Amino acid sequence: MWDAKYLQNKERKFREKDISYGEFTIKTKTKWWNLIELVNVLRFSGLKSPKSILDVGCSDGRFLEYVSKTFKLCNLFGIDFARRPLKDLKNKPFKSIQICGDMCNLPFKPSSFDFIVSLQAVQQIPNAENRINLLKNIHAMLKDKGTLTVTVLNQKSWFNLVENGKEGPLKTAPDIYEYLYNPQDLRDELQKAGFTVSIITGTNLIPVRFLKYLKFFGVLIDTTLTLLLGSLSIKRSRYLLAVCKK
Ligand SMILES: C[S@@+](CC[C@H](N)C(=O)[O-])C[C@H]1O[C@@H](n2cnc3c(N)ncnc32)[C@H](O)[C@@H]1O
Repeated sequence: MWDAKYLQNKERKFREKDISYGEFTIKTKTKWWNLIELVNVLRFSGLKSPKSILDVGCSDGRFLEYVSKTFKLCNLFGIDFARRPLKDLKNKPFKSIQICGDMCNLPFKPSSFDFIVSLQAVQQIPNAENRINLLKNIHAMLKDKGTLTVTVLNQKSWFNLVENGKEGPLKTAPDIYEYLYNPQDLRDELQKAGFTVSIITGTNLIPVRFLKYLKFFGVLIDTTLTLLLGSLSIKRSRYLLAVCKK
């Protein structure tokens, strides 16, 4: 068992100092890489004019910003325990409500949201029991037939990030704990939390070094390949993407 409190506290302090995650993704990869994940999340979620969206572990709200262009009348909420990225979100040119708090203890009334999204955040909670509790909490905050979409690191692509290939502090950034998912443990945790899983697929197939040259064309190829390959895309993808229903 990992000391969840200790690792989460380390992470929170790290996020207060580090650049926001959206900015980090674009700086270390490209905006096209970022776009591929967002396009796939929106496409696979199949949303029809949601009234309220919550982004759990939102950082600077790269997803909320993207979705604000499609659903102009939707109320957008983001929660993260680091204050600094939330300030970046507040300064973005669209309306959202930012909550600084622990996503394992969501401060909302039950059945508040049509859609909840959590990108690259669930994997940062140490211990399966804590992750399942977080997912149960999210389940309670969704309206009936509401949708949850998550993306997480694909163990197949990132096994060398942590000492034992499965979970622990990152070799390159020991303040960050990561759990590396395979499709089966992602499905198990979602089902244990009460969700009906409709899709588990991969996202982000084309290596960054090619994407730098292919640019928007790369986004088209990558997202089309994911559609054509379906769950086969998991073999080559950097992230797993799951869509499930309450
Ligand atoms: C890898 S970043 C992903 C950020 C964002 N979802 C995105 O994809 O751009 C993970 C985020 O989860 C947040 N986080 C981790 N544990 C949390 C917790 N217990 N409560 C709230 N936020 C948390 C971190 O502060 C960080 O901003």
